[in-house]
Amino acid sequence: MVSSGKQRTIGEKLSAAGLTVRGKDGQDYHMRPIRPSDAASLIRGYDALSDRGKRFRMFSVIPHLSEEMAADFCSPDPESEVCVVVDGRGTLKGEILGGARLADMGPGRAAEFSVSMRPEARGLGLARQALETVIDLGREAGCASVWGAIATRNEAMLNLATRIGFTLSRDPDDFSVIRAEMAL
Ligand SMILES: CC(C)(COP(=O)(O)OP(=O)(O)OC[C@H]1O[C@@H](n2cnc3c(N)ncnc32)[C@H](O)[C@@H]1OP(=O)(O)O)[C@@H](O)C(=O)NCCC(=O)NCCS
Repeated sequence: MVSSGKQRTIGEKLSAAGLTVRGKDGQDYHMRPIRPSDAASLIRGYDALSDRGKRFRMFSVIPHLSEEMAADFCSPDPESEVCVVVDGRGTLKGEILGGARLADMGPGRAAEFSVSMRPEARGLGLARQALETVIDLGREAGCASVWGAIATRNEAMLNLATRIGFTLSRDPDDFSVIRAEMAL
C-alpha cells in the first residue's frame, strides 16, 4: 500500500514543533533547535557546570560564557551548523537543560559534534538523545562522518560515545584527547 502522507525529515519535525523525548525518569521532554532568546539560560547552564565539566566542554579554562559567546552559540550558521536543546521541567522550567551541536556540516564533510547537559539533568539519557538527533541531522545533510574530541579522563562522554557506536582512537598529537568518529 502506498502511503499518501509525506514523511517529514527530522530537521523538518524539529523546526516545525520540536520532538518529544522520554527521559529515564519517565517524563517527556521537549527538544528543539536553539534560538537567540536562549542566551541568558545558556550562560546560567554553563555556570552550573563544574570546573571539570567546563574544561571537558571547552578544552580550556573559560569560567563564564560572555554574552557575545552565548549569542554566537545561540545563532548557529544555518549553512553549516545545527544545535538542539532540551527544555527543562519542574524547578528548571524555562531553562535549557543542555543539548548537542554539529558544526562544519555539508555534503561529504566530517562534521564535529559537541554535547553538554546541566548536572541536575544528567543520567536521564537526554544527552544521548540530543547527540543522536544531531547525528541524524548530519546524515540528512549528507555529511560523510561525525567526529568529536573527548578528554581522556571524560569517562561519561567516552561511555556515551561508545554506547552510540563511535570508534575511539588516541589523538597522535595529544595524549590527553581521544578522537571519536563515526561514518554516516
Ligand atoms: C557527557 C555528558 C553530556 C553526559 O550527560 P548525561 O546526561 O550523563 O548523558 P546520558 O544520561 O544521556 O547518558 C548516556 C550514557 O553515558 C553513560 N554515562 C553517563 N554518565 C556516566 C558516568 N558518570 N560514568 C560512566 N558512564 C556514564 C551511560 O552509559 C549512558 O548510557 P545509557 O543511556 O545507555 O545508560 C555530561 O556528563 C556533561 O555535560 N559533561 C560536561 C560537558 C562534556 O564533557 N561534554 C562533552 C564534550 S565532547
